[in-house]
Amino acid sequence: MIRFRMDVPGELEAKMDEVITHYPVKRSAVLPLLHLVQQHFRHINDAAVTWVANKLGLEPIQVLEVVTFYPGFRQSAPGKYHIRVCRTLSCAMAGSYELMESLCKTANIDRSHVDHHHPIAVSPDGKYSIEFAECLASCGTGPVCMVEDDFHEAVAPEKAAELLGKYQ
Ligand code: FES
Repeated sequence: MIRFRMDVPGELEAKMDEVITHYPVKRSAVLPLLHLVQQHFRHINDAAVTWVANKLGLEPIQVLEVVTFYPGFRQSAPGKYHIRVCRTLSCAMAGSYELMESLCKTANIDRSHVDHHHPIAVSPDGKYSIEFAECLASCGTGPVCMVEDDFHEAVAPEKAAELLGKYQ
């Protein structure tokens, strides 16, 4: 059996212990614990999956199923600023693919290796990362994207440099 080690700060684990008390059975806390892990470590790797499974009395595969089901969870490390570009129909028709291209060109990001299992591409300097996302719930104002938790609507592809300039 492969063992993965992860150093979880005491403060973070205390927060998790408190969250678990909100649920009748601790396994039900898997989603909030994964959110806490991602907030702290910026992604959820194999070590984190195993750690959360041990914490909640689950098998790692049960936690991994949750991580891979929800597109908001990342399995690989993002850049300092993570960008999500909506590619669903309304945004696609409004230019989200052109926006993606422009953002990648501006940030010097190569997406040629991206696939379903590895959706995130990172700039060589580690400053920006990017991925396509499904509908971000603002279909009338496309193309839309998120940088970290900030929402940006009607981002014209030629405004990519201006947008990234806000995240230094
Ligand atoms: S299609 Fe882009 S926000 Fe809904």
